[in-house]
Amino acid sequence: MTSKTAYNIAIVGATGAVGQKIVQILEDKKFPIDTLKLLSSERSAGKKLLFNNQEIIVEKATAESFAGIDIALFSAGGSVSKALAPKAVEHGAVVIDNTSAFRMDENVPLVVPEVNESDIKAHNGIIANPNCSTIQMVAALQPLKKAFGLSRVIVSTYQAVSGSGNQACNELENQTKQYLENQEMTAELLPVKGDKKHFPIAFNALPQIDVFQENGYTFEEMKMINETKKIMHSPELSVVATCVRLPFFTSHAESVYVELEQDNLAVKDLWDVLTNAEGVVLEDDPSTQTYPTPLSAANKEEVFVGRVRKDIDKSNGFHLWVVSDNLLKGAAWNTVQIAERLIQNNWL
Ligand SMILES: NC(=O)c1ccc[n+]([C@@H]2O[C@H](COP(=O)([O-])OP(=O)(O)OC[C@H]3O[C@@H](n4cnc5c(N)ncnc54)[C@H](OP(=O)(O)O)[C@@H]3O)[C@@H](O)[C@H]2O)c1
Repeated sequence: MTSKTAYNIAIVGATGAVGQKIVQILEDKKFPIDTLKLLSSERSAGKKLLFNNQEIIVEKATAESFAGIDIALFSAGGSVSKALAPKAVEHGAVVIDNTSAFRMDENVPLVVPEVNESDIKAHNGIIANPNCSTIQMVAALQPLKKAFGLSRVIVSTYQAVSGSGNQACNELENQTKQYLENQEMTAELLPVKGDKKHFPIAFNALPQIDVFQENGYTFEEMKMINETKKIMHSPELSVVATCVRLPFFTSHAESVYVELEQDNLAVKDLWDVLTNAEGVVLEDDPSTQTYPTPLSAANKEEVFVGRVRKDIDKSNGFHLWVVSDNLLKGAAWNTVQIAERLIQNNWL
């Protein structure tokens, strides 16, 4: 395996919002590919997609799809991963999974390369890609934790509809047209496919992402809480989240309050650390109205941070505004980055 210079790659969910971005990044980054297999459900099987100007016919994903595959990138929902990822591993592939199926499994590394690249090495065939809103937050917090220590995180999210896939984007588009034409808006998907009620997302804000848990938090909120502790190796870290869906297509934004272990720091101290942090871009100058927005971060790989402020009352408290493209760093780019590091470090 280590002597290979090109790899057989499969993408499960290749026709989806994340899968399409993975295809694009593999092409843009000139990932060393021998063969590329594009897999979907029966619905899209037979469809033709372009890769490096060559047509590839999409195939239905089955247990037998993974013969000869070195790396399988999954983004077709948790139930598909649970059913097919172990089959891919049986065929000798390493799976990088974008769903929540294995993230909290203690035998599965949960990885943001800028934060915990070395965890990849301990994989047993499956590596999990964290939730999109978690990835961008830990990328911004890890350098602060390293420099100053971190004891508490309170995050409120402003999340794009593409986080719920292609159908949610269609729903926002249709509802926007309906609203502007004075028609009743039809809501069939959001906040959560399969939940009892649906509400319009156009011209609205929905304080529910994923289903409610017994403790009153949503699954998205609990993902942010539990995944942050696992990725940062900080079980004792105090983390709490409120996750909200808003009517724009791409990039999640987050208002993050942190308490650092070191006291009496100035905004400049945090700027200095964030300026030098891998994968992070500081865009913070109130005098020129410089700060990141979902539109400015869209189609970019980095995590953007602005609006760094010292808390009014707490001397070790700071507020940050963190924005990143949920389909790129939040999903496809983080996945491909893990695949790159697997190869570079001979950890396949
Ligand atoms: N969107 C994000 O920001 C984001 C970020 C991180 C993680 N994720 C996770 O990634 C996964 C996919 O999300 P998405 O936004 O790309 O969804 P999406 O746009 O709805 O795409 C779903 C993909 O899965 C395929 N699929 C569905 N059922 C299948 C089955 N039974 N067998 C094989 N393929 C099947 C679909 O194929 P067809 O074309 O045949 O329907 C399509 O390619 C989800 O688990 C999601 O939670 C999403």
